[in-house]
Amino acid sequence: MSDGIPGGERGPQVPRRVVLGTGLGTGAGASAGALLPLRPRAAAQSVPATEPGATIRIRLTVNGRPAELEIDSRASLLDLLRERLGLTGTKKGCDHGQCGACTVHLGERSVVSCLTLAAKADGGRVTTIEGLAPDGTLHPLQRAFIDHDALQCGYCTPGQIMSAAILVRDGRATGAEAVREFMSGNLCRCGAYAGIVAAILSVAETREG
Ligand code: FES
Ligand code: FES
Repeated sequence: MSDGIPGGERGPQVPRRVVLGTGLGTGAGASAGALLPLRPRAAAQSVPATEPGATIRIRLTVNGRPAELEIDSRASLLDLLRERLGLTGTKKGCDHGQCGACTVHLGERSVVSCLTLAAKADGGRVTTIEGLAPDGTLHPLQRAFIDHDALQCGYCTPGQIMSAAILVRDGRATGAEAVREFMSGNLCRCGAYAGIVAAILSVAETREG
């Protein structure tokens, strides 16, 4: 699904499938001929099949452990975590910054890792769902999600919990409305929202998060 342009840095280019769907090269041969170079085969041969990106070396701390890696400068933090470091607790949902499944902490903030360049984490500290309970004891939010039936398939749950951890830490889970507003970027296709809000509020009340 990735288009090789993580970080949300999309220009206003026309999507390739839209261009292919315009009829150029089929019934519109005459107008296509007016737009395209006369030697398309030679031109096509000169275009490389892939555009290799520059590699860079980064150092970061992930769940308390230092890591040093050489990465494609365009790699997303999500792909770095899942594919290079094997931390598959962080989920890839939309890969477009719209579902929140990939939420992790970068320093003191929660970020959608699919739209965060891995290079941006250089010198930084990343926490994933695996790092929330490093000693094997469930984090209060993990416990609360279980107790309040706040998950069904569980695919969105890591991202929900990582977002909720920041919400509770900052003392902003002051009521159901505030929780719903803050968590609106985390989508649950199973519709476990009632349990999610109840779980977060239960932890906020004890201020354990
Ligand atoms: S996978 Fe990152 S927001 Fe959906
Ligand atoms: S529990 Fe299934 S998507 Fe949320």
